[in-house]
Amino acid sequence: MSNAQFIVVANRLPVDAVVDAEGNRTWRRSPGGLVTALEPVLQANRGTWIGWAGTAGAAPEPFESDGVTLLPVELSENEIFRYYEGFSNASLWPLYHDAVEPRVFRRSWWKSYYEVNERFAEVCAREAAPGAVVWIQDYQLQLVPGMLRERRPDLRIGFFLHIPFPPVELFMQLPHRMEILKGLLGADLVGFQRPLAAQNFLALTRHLLGYRPRGHYVTVDDRLVRADAFPISIDTAANEEVAGTERVRQRAKEIRAELGEPETIFLGVDRLDYTKGIEVRLKAFRELLEDGRLEVPKAVMIQVATPSRERVDQYVALRERVEREVGRINGEYGQVGLPAVHYLHQSFDRYELAALYQAADVMAVTPLRDGMNLVAKEYVASQADNRGALVLSEFAGAAGDLRQAFLVNPHDLTDLKDGFVTAATASADDKMKRMRAMRRYLRKHDVSRWARSFLTALGVPERSAAYNPGSLPSAD
Ligand code: ADP
Ligand code: F6P
Repeated sequence: MSNAQFIVVANRLPVDAVVDAEGNRTWRRSPGGLVTALEPVLQANRGTWIGWAGTAGAAPEPFESDGVTLLPVELSENEIFRYYEGFSNASLWPLYHDAVEPRVFRRSWWKSYYEVNERFAEVCAREAAPGAVVWIQDYQLQLVPGMLRERRPDLRIGFFLHIPFPPVELFMQLPHRMEILKGLLGADLVGFQRPLAAQNFLALTRHLLGYRPRGHYVTVDDRLVRADAFPISIDTAANEEVAGTERVRQRAKEIRAELGEPETIFLGVDRLDYTKGIEVRLKAFRELLEDGRLEVPKAVMIQVATPSRERVDQYVALRERVEREVGRINGEYGQVGLPAVHYLHQSFDRYELAALYQAADVMAVTPLRDGMNLVAKEYVASQADNRGALVLSEFAGAAGDLRQAFLVNPHDLTDLKDGFVTAATASADDKMKRMRAMRRYLRKHDVSRWARSFLTALGVPERSAAYNPGSLPSAD
């Protein structure tokens, strides 16, 4: 047993190892919203982060980064294929996102999912101090709460799901559904992005296990388990600070100039994932050009598509379709030196991302389904002069928080096209009012408030050694 008082357990560490041909290892930031949200929380708490380092084979030695102790967990090539790409990202991911792509089940994937979850639980059981607080993250590790409780009943165990939790009839398709539900019930607190997800979970405990949930609670053996919603957010102050720098302002101007000073820049920033609605967004843009409601070069689109899960079949196929569509739009509507869509399959640092956000007139966040979507929140926080417009899917968790966005149904192409045009032609006054209200909301509901409200609900005393609220403001 070690002396870690506050531990986060996630599939990935906040940094990924990159090993070159000579075998030299460097580290780069891991993709995705989980890292964006948890990094500042862990830094404030000076906690321990247990996770995979992103490459196959022996795990690197534990090390410290920005005050956080990083403890890598080993995954073999076979486990990456079966646990990560297979059960996590080809079975659970599509199913939990309303099966917007068909889910695939393979028996060998489950075995690997079980074994890797067990490994994470063992590492955590070894590292945690007596009575420590352990916060387990996301769908890749749903068995860990139960496995950890068996080994260390003294711990306070929280679990947070970053993605949607499906309704009963979809969850029932899942092989090993009982084990997964029991695994989650090993936690003292199971957190979700939206209230409906918590209700789905509680309904399942009744349907599958015959429990009798009351309000937000369900009794499991002699323990009370709470299931509730804790909508995740961003470090608003840090985003505003970056957006307010001269470097970002200048770069935003440069981007507009490089694009030929268009009237309307549409922007999409997503991991290249089929849940994000990138295809439907491109189709809406193409049809608007076709209908003559938009015109190049007065209107252009920038689509940043961060590489993601590049060996999973559905992601390979998606990339092909997206790139074909971009080619088609540029072929039909681009001009020499003036493409209609600027497609960037790359990662950027936060200054470049903030400059893109600031340069954009209309941010298109159109997922078919999304747990939260932090990109939408980052865009809002980056509008230092309140001038942009956010088009936001009703099916993103963020729609529950950013109510003044131009809300659209991405399953309805006509609605999506109208939403783009409405946002692009809204008056400066209308956009400013909406943006101000959303920025005010995000200043209050930032990631530290999210962490504080989760940990308080988990019963972590504010001044305990396990949880140093540090700079975290009050939850009220
Ligand atoms: P998800 O967790 O599904 O990827 P989110 O929108 O919640 O979706 O979070 C994505 C995070 O990844 C955001 O913090 C965003 O800034 C970051 N991100 C997205 N695309 C890029 C990119 N091309 N380069 C750097 N960071 C990116
Ligand atoms: O919650 C979505 C998620 O799986 C997070 O765990 C992570 O932020 C992001 O997607 C990136 O996914 P991956 O770790 O598979 O690259």
